[in-house]
Amino acid sequence: MKDTSFRDAVMTGEDRSPVTVIGLGNMGLALADTFLKGGHPTTVWNRSANKADDLVTKGAARATSIAEAISASAVVVVCLSTYEVMHRLLAPLGHELSDRVIINLTTGTPEEARKTAKWAAECGSDYLDGAIMAIPQMIGLPEALIFYGGPKALFEAHEPMLKLLGGSTTYLSEDHGEPLLYDLALLTMLYGAWYSYLHAHALLSRACISATKILPYVTNWLNYVIVPSLTDPNAARALDESIYATDVSNLTINKQGLDNIVRSSKELGISVDWLTPIQALATLKVAEGYGADGFERIFEAIKKPLA
Ligand SMILES: NC(=O)c1ccc[n+]([C@@H]2O[C@H](COP(=O)([O-])OP(=O)(O)OC[C@H]3O[C@@H](n4cnc5c(N)ncnc54)[C@H](OP(=O)(O)O)[C@@H]3O)[C@@H](O)[C@H]2O)c1
Repeated sequence: MKDTSFRDAVMTGEDRSPVTVIGLGNMGLALADTFLKGGHPTTVWNRSANKADDLVTKGAARATSIAEAISASAVVVVCLSTYEVMHRLLAPLGHELSDRVIINLTTGTPEEARKTAKWAAECGSDYLDGAIMAIPQMIGLPEALIFYGGPKALFEAHEPMLKLLGGSTTYLSEDHGEPLLYDLALLTMLYGAWYSYLHAHALLSRACISATKILPYVTNWLNYVIVPSLTDPNAARALDESIYATDVSNLTINKQGLDNIVRSSKELGISVDWLTPIQALATLKVAEGYGADGFERIFEAIKKPLA
């Protein structure tokens, strides 16, 4: 059950202006539900209209067309699968979007966000682009992190309403593309971690060791080794300053670790396609004489622009 104290605190004495939510997938449903719980008259539209049924029983208004949804509220929150879908749906509306505030929480690329901001300006709309760094079940909770980019005054005008969706709501900059750059960076960490987690379990599965059995040790490894190394402010500063010295474990030792994983994985018939580029970078940097540096030395090669 969600803790409502944070939401109640945010709502104290603030406006409960109407809002429209376009897109009722897993995330859009959570957004609309949270606006409703926060006391905002909420109009919803979704291609598959039946997804609004539950919200309608809770008091939401179901628009029968996108145009009707847009005209219902000055603030329109969009959460669709892609920017392409969003443009396909909204492009035909044109002048109906003028004087609306569009808050786009669809995930895409920074360039898509910037182009959409230009398009919104041509339509006469005010525009904020956001990136949700949370799952639907976290929407409305203090720890839900949502980034915004665009005019600061526009963000501030709608901040109480936006904070309802996530207590860790953060305005980044006037650049509409910045939230999605942060999003891509954090998602890169997610998919890297996810894939490596699955590769690890594929290795274990060859010896019939279940994910459940090793879970306590995975937890220990993450909490005491991986998370501290990736969240250490000194390590972040060192990366910013291109300082790669280490007194923990050097690149030569880490390269040997990679060599062992690659060799063993191949012996067990598990693809190493994602690992060999990492192994190659470590091998290159050791060959260049950086074996005594930390693993982070390969960052020099990763960030180098492609020819
Ligand atoms: N779920 C998460 O944990 C999460 C977290 C952060 C950010 N996000 C972002 O939030 C956005 C929505 O994600 P979601 O999880 O809600 O996805 P979802 O459950 O797959 O919902 C997709 C939404 O897009 C609509 N849609 C897709 N194609 C369409 C089309 N051709 N015409 C009209 N509507 C179309 C769907 O309508 P129908 O219902 O009719 O199919 C639905 O409303 C994505 O950009 C996602 O990256 C999601």
